[in-house]
Amino acid sequence: MKSIWNGNSVWATVLLSVGLAGAGEMHAIIPRPEKMSVAEGSYTIDSGTVIRISPASRELREIGNYLSGLLGPASGLNVPVKSSWFPKPGGIALTLDRQRKDLGDEGYTLTCTGKGVTIVAAKPAGLFYGVQTLRQLLPVKIESQQKVEGVAWQVPCVMIEDKPRFKWRGYLIDPARNFRTKEELKRYIDLLALHKMNIMQLHLTDDQGWRVEIKRYPKLVEIGSRLPDYGGRKGEGWFYSQADIRELVAYAAGRYVTLVPEIEMPGHCGAVFPAYPELACGGKRPGGWAEPLCVSRDSAEDFATNVLDEVIALFPSPYIHVGADEVPVGPWRKCATCKAAMEQLGKTPLPAEVTVFRVKVSASAGVPFHEDIGRLQGEFIRKIDRYITSRGRQMVGWDEILDGGLKTGSAAVVMAWRGAGAVGGSCGQGHEVIVSLHPDYYLDNDTSLQRTYDYEPVPKDLPPDQAKYVIGVQGNMWGEQTQTARHVDWRTFPRLCAIAETGWTVPGNRDFRDFQQRLVPLKARLDTLGVNSVRP
Ligand code: ACM
Ligand code: ZN
Repeated sequence: MKSIWNGNSVWATVLLSVGLAGAGEMHAIIPRPEKMSVAEGSYTIDSGTVIRISPASRELREIGNYLSGLLGPASGLNVPVKSSWFPKPGGIALTLDRQRKDLGDEGYTLTCTGKGVTIVAAKPAGLFYGVQTLRQLLPVKIESQQKVEGVAWQVPCVMIEDKPRFKWRGYLIDPARNFRTKEELKRYIDLLALHKMNIMQLHLTDDQGWRVEIKRYPKLVEIGSRLPDYGGRKGEGWFYSQADIRELVAYAAGRYVTLVPEIEMPGHCGAVFPAYPELACGGKRPGGWAEPLCVSRDSAEDFATNVLDEVIALFPSPYIHVGADEVPVGPWRKCATCKAAMEQLGKTPLPAEVTVFRVKVSASAGVPFHEDIGRLQGEFIRKIDRYITSRGRQMVGWDEILDGGLKTGSAAVVMAWRGAGAVGGSCGQGHEVIVSLHPDYYLDNDTSLQRTYDYEPVPKDLPPDQAKYVIGVQGNMWGEQTQTARHVDWRTFPRLCAIAETGWTVPGNRDFRDFQQRLVPLKARLDTLGVNSVRP
């Protein structure tokens, strides 16, 4: 090693020049690694290459098999996975070293010499991300599903040390508005893995459709998945069975992606009422579709907690998202029981341990700000928060959950979408926050790539003891305008590549011009993977 790298001096001198000065396409990695140095030469993956995992374990074998599966179709090679108790030189070594605590849960080192590639991590997730870096060091044709002749599968000599900035690097997909098949979701899970993203939020329910089977309420999918979708197409029973969800969860876990279910309540749940009209205000199916649950009645809470029980059993995610945005409060004002409950709550001061934070809408957000989310919603959300906590999970909600008030000590995570005020407000109250702002991180609009890339998720004026509550970033691919997977591709990329880099890369290593250069080979890689980049 020393002979190639000459110790730390090479590291130090080459470090800053890589990337910004353009180290060439073969070193163009997105998200940009923390430290990278390059040297002359390369290692060629060929028929003699072996993937060596050490120590032997189910997780490492799965990562080894995943890598072998990535290399196989284009190269025509069947790279074997072998285990050894101690690391051996040569080939591609995936080595777990629990002593490397400095790498955290997801960090890794990758060293390529002329003799082979070694990836070291303290946890399996780090090895998986090292594999994604190795993938991006290989010629883009490695992504082809057909055998490619005449390409040498060379990995340039590099030394990389890398770990993520944030633990939540998310992407929201919206099968409620326009259904996405199980296979389409798997394809997106694969694309997230390529970008070292680790969360896929499934927006499973909304006014246009209910997309997850709940055994206790069979009509949710019998009726709620057959409503016209956002484009008005007749519903055809578009939903995921519980077996489908288990399959998706396992598929995602194999790619170090957590599926976070989002079950909207008490608004954005219009698909419930054609199936169970008794849950609406007035106890009958409303005329419009943007209606809330009639939260003043116990039946709403029973419904919500029964549904959550099944959702929690299906999804191992530590986080359960309950939406809670844009609740249409009009029907509550006309409903006898909701009116009575609101009047009662209005007379009673909020309990001392409840803190309310009104999010000021930012001038740029361009979305309606609902002044009166109401005490009724606050009461309901606090009950749901307690329930999810009692089941050992953490509630996540859009930043409206701050408006109605959360209890001191609540572990609720805020997903901020209505401007940086929501980020600062959450941090100020000690709530973890995911930055998912409109329009910067909304993928269903025409925001420029540079604006998305340059957005800094941690507000500059936030003191470090509050900034630590920012746990990540997320791009939201709302589905109203995306009828087909080709639409989703076209909208998602390349802005998702920018969000991935913000989620992973330390701010000092982010530079838009450098990113644009690195995007050229990533675009070619995405093209080879069949990602559509033109307006359908
Ligand atoms: C949202 O865009 N309503 C979260
Ligand atoms: Zn009501």
